[in-house]
Amino acid sequence: MELNEATTRAQYLRDQLNQHNYNYYVFNNPIISDFEYDKLLTELTDLEKQYPQLQTPDSPTLRVGSDILEQFVQIPHNYPMLSLSNTYSETEILDFDHRIRKEINGDIEYVCELKFDGAAISLTYIDGVLAYAVTRGDGEQGDDVTANVRTIKAIPLRLKGNDYPKEFEMRGEIFMPHTSFKRLNEERIDIGESPFANPRNAAAGTLKLLDPKEVAKRSLDCFLYYILGENLPYEKQYENLEKARTWGFKVSDHMRKCKDLNEVFSFIRYWDTERKNLPYDTDGAVIKLNDYVLQRRMGTTAKSPRWAIAYKFKAEQAVTRLLSVDFQVGRTGVITPVANLQPVQLAGTTVKRASLHNADQIELLDARIGDAVIVEKGGEIIPKIVGIDLVQRPVNSATFEYITHCPECGTLLIKDVGEAKHYCPNETGCPPQIIGKIEHFISRKAMNIDGIGSEKVDQFYKQHLINNPADLYDLKVEQLVNLERMGKRSANNIIKGIEKSKNVLYSRVLFALGIRFVGETTAKKLAEAFPSIDKLKNAGIEDLLQVGEIGERIAQSVVDYFSNKEYMTMLSRLRSAGLQFEQAGSEKNRLSDKLESIHIVISGNFTRWSREDLKTLIEQHGGKNLSTMSSNVNYLLAGDKIGPAKLQKAEKLGVKIIGENEFIDMIS
Ligand code: IVH
Repeated sequence: MELNEATTRAQYLRDQLNQHNYNYYVFNNPIISDFEYDKLLTELTDLEKQYPQLQTPDSPTLRVGSDILEQFVQIPHNYPMLSLSNTYSETEILDFDHRIRKEINGDIEYVCELKFDGAAISLTYIDGVLAYAVTRGDGEQGDDVTANVRTIKAIPLRLKGNDYPKEFEMRGEIFMPHTSFKRLNEERIDIGESPFANPRNAAAGTLKLLDPKEVAKRSLDCFLYYILGENLPYEKQYENLEKARTWGFKVSDHMRKCKDLNEVFSFIRYWDTERKNLPYDTDGAVIKLNDYVLQRRMGTTAKSPRWAIAYKFKAEQAVTRLLSVDFQVGRTGVITPVANLQPVQLAGTTVKRASLHNADQIELLDARIGDAVIVEKGGEIIPKIVGIDLVQRPVNSATFEYITHCPECGTLLIKDVGEAKHYCPNETGCPPQIIGKIEHFISRKAMNIDGIGSEKVDQFYKQHLINNPADLYDLKVEQLVNLERMGKRSANNIIKGIEKSKNVLYSRVLFALGIRFVGETTAKKLAEAFPSIDKLKNAGIEDLLQVGEIGERIAQSVVDYFSNKEYMTMLSRLRSAGLQFEQAGSEKNRLSDKLESIHIVISGNFTRWSREDLKTLIEQHGGKNLSTMSSNVNYLLAGDKIGPAKLQKAEKLGVKIIGENEFIDMIS
């Protein structure tokens, strides 16, 4: 390629890669596969090698992936966390084997493992007890996520037996099984949050939550695949992992020792199809030299070991026609475009629909009606459109015009800055939103009203019996008995169920109201901070932002809710009906007011108390635990291994730094 042409191409590749990086890391919504991403990156790397003058300082080839977040303390890795070089064909595995055989004579034993698709974690055990859990970060240092990792049941907090090394590191992959992923996304969609694009993003996002209690609810899992340290039981990968299994670690049953490439290939071919039956995502196989002596002989490059390689499975794809796009309206008004496709066989099922996520994605893909679209089914349950075959584009095709008005009620749609999706603001007049809000209100985790399901809600709404949750409390047996498919007994049960819901706790009532972005956990936090609905109603944005983990988006949504006249009428009817609008015994956990209106950030590791305990203590004494440093903070409660950045920031802002003992003095 001539320099001229190469310059244009490099610019194009940089733009594309930057956009895909953004989709992946910021939006949590990748629209091309890893394979396609790697192809673009390799092409750019090759071009820059050929013409070094084309490499710009912001080139994605220079970017070292990092997952570090400011809110966490950074801990350096004792051994760098390398990645694996990826291969996509058996020929490349042959090359890998040749490279090894050039250095090593004699028999070679490989270990083949599945490549789990989640987030890498490094666990340090000291005297058989989990001491730290650190993310990969930039490979040199990562975030201390110990409190979150402690909630993952597959990870032993204390080891079994007594033959483990005094101090060692266990590395593995934290992932989200399909069932948890599905449940989590359903919950997110329910409160108007964007669903995670795939289980990997969901696992990585969950690991970085600031509240371990929330992490615990999301059922993460973890396979361990690499042990590091001195005085390990064996000098072999497979044998060490089998040993680690006896200490209580979850090691995959699917790892195999292979004595030659034929065995390696049969492992790969078997799992290329069989992985579809696993309850979690895998995106390839990892082939490792079993013997540590030979591993050391092969060594590593700056980025990855020479003794191991990843073979990436190809996500299954099919090409079909995009026939039309439907727009679904959720209970919070969020619009989701869904593609209707010419039915096509993909990974054993007939695919007729695919998710299109949002307007930006349609624009980015430049998807047009009649286009030949490439659909892909990774581990995700719903297939997605990852590309367009432009060669097959019909000559007269037109750019897709996204809808401007709600398909259900005709209201002009809104798209907030920073939000990915459009929504219909007609909260109290748009039928799917009305029905969706009532369905949410009666659901198990909300008011848990027995005897009514979505079908009944639909029926009551169509019969003009209910138009919002407050109408439920005016229903009479006599109104119900005459309805179709309704006996006296069911009607009685429904009324009894509604009556019983009057005892449901205030925090669940808050959740049941269906305020946008207010899920179960947020509702609990709001109920704690504002122990009655009147207090919450009177709270301004600033007051709401003082509550840990309530950001501007949620705060604004709460304020909007209480400024809506129709909601206020509904709330006063619910109050008259007898619903719990106050926290029962809210102040009973209060031990003192010694920390009243004091804001404290906790950072580092502590000897006497866990971070959760400290947080509870702060709250029990009337203080507030904040997660980020600002001029609003009064004290930084600092433990061991606190990140230098955090200390510097505290000093710069003049925040007083105290230790564990000083803190205890303050509250005793
Ligand atoms: S071994 C030095 N084994 O893949 C080798 N990694 O691209 C360390 N992964 O960061 C990695 N399954 O997050 C290894 N069975 C497995 C794996 C695995 C998934 C991930 C891991 C690593 C990435 C490498």
